[in-house]
Amino acid sequence: MQKRKTVLDILTMKKTGEKITMLTAYDAAMASLLASADVDMLLVGDSLGMVVLGYDSTVPVTMDEMIHHASAVRRGAPGAFVVADLPFGSYQTGIRDALINGSRFLKEAGCDAVKLEGGLEVCDTVAALVRAGISVMGHIGLTPQTATQLGGYKVQGRDLQSAKKMVAEALALEKAGAFAIVMECIPDELGRIISEEIAVPTIGIGAGVHCDGQVLVVNDLLGMFEKFIPSFVKSYCKLAPTIKEAVAEYNREVRSGAFPDKKHSFSSESNLRELLGLS
Ligand code: KIV
Repeated sequence: MQKRKTVLDILTMKKTGEKITMLTAYDAAMASLLASADVDMLLVGDSLGMVVLGYDSTVPVTMDEMIHHASAVRRGAPGAFVVADLPFGSYQTGIRDALINGSRFLKEAGCDAVKLEGGLEVCDTVAALVRAGISVMGHIGLTPQTATQLGGYKVQGRDLQSAKKMVAEALALEKAGAFAIVMECIPDELGRIISEEIAVPTIGIGAGVHCDGQVLVVNDLLGMFEKFIPSFVKSYCKLAPTIKEAVAEYNREVRSGAFPDKKHSFSSESNLRELLGLS
């Protein structure tokens, strides 16, 4: 079993220049596979709303859905460092709600940390969570929970003013106590500058190679989610066509009677019909 990393280990990785890997996981089976492949951190992202639950965005995802999936991830990967997303509406309504919901991830799902989206407006919440003993990962740049306010799913921080704002947000989140910051969909040079300016690790997704670590949605990495593939995603294999081919083959074999064959069936007395008294 993996030795579970700590926040201190993650911070040390930045100091020693060791790149950090993070992938999303939503269930026990995948979490177990990812942990055995030695991923540094698992993220129970609210992206599960889109890639697992079939919603159009992350907005409808509830705390109970997150707890359900985060608990499964923890069961599948007891040795992994697990971060869970505070979903939309679970922390914007006030610090008390953030504390209640953040604690639920630790108490009910056994998570190691929570992640929340936003810049200066969430710094008081981040500080309160950290004070309460809940480790927090920030998330700036493209923040999917408020993507409509940002003009949709597009690169952030391209102009000087928004780049400046993002540097300020990263510094403020670090000051508030965030132990790491996800930066989504920003120019790679801005990714480099922020990574150099703050002491806590930056975890990039569409933020270039200079971030201290990288995160991807595992379904994208595995080529399982065909509905929408952002340009920054690299699929390391194409499971969707493999799955479809396997299922088509199964359909063919069931329909033709080729499956199950002798090898995949249990044998019994050859005169069972007679033994059962049936003629
Ligand atoms: O929800 C999620 O999966 C995320 C990652 C894309 C960083 O927030």
